[in-house]
Amino acid sequence: MVCLGNICRSPLAEGILRNKAKKAGLHWTIDSAGTGNYHIGEAPHRLSQKVSKLNGVDISFQQARQFHKNDMKHFDKIYVMDADNYEEVKSISQDQWNQDKVDLLLNELHPFENREVPDPWYGTEEAYHRVYKLLDLACTAVIKKYEPVEIKK
Ligand code: 4NP
Repeated sequence: MVCLGNICRSPLAEGILRNKAKKAGLHWTIDSAGTGNYHIGEAPHRLSQKVSKLNGVDISFQQARQFHKNDMKHFDKIYVMDADNYEEVKSISQDQWNQDKVDLLLNELHPFENREVPDPWYGTEEAYHRVYKLLDLACTAVIKKYEPVEIKK
């Protein structure tokens, strides 16, 4: 899960997806990163922590890091929050760039529409609640897409 600062949107997406994957019995390695380096080592934004906690998801232990080109190799799927993130990931990845692995997260909810998760950085708490709801719906779609189908006897 990738955004700009790795303190507002992608830490929420990481926490939400980890929570849902665990509940679905999926042993995925889930991580998040920012394309920028401004907040490396910081905990998620106070309001991201607050809103996720209200929804039963703990992200307080997460620490911001910057996206690295090796992430493109290491992870099977890379979800970005907006079009700028997409271009930055492409630029950072250099020779490792693999277009098939990268998509806007909201395309899992609205295929091919290239909708963006709005940046709540300058917003009020309400903006963080709205972002949480969007990410929650998108992560449910991701789980549905990849979880193994139960074979009925
Ligand atoms: P994020 O939000 O990309 O969702 O983590 C932002 C966090 C910090 C900044 C911008 C966006 N910033 O400019 O420092």
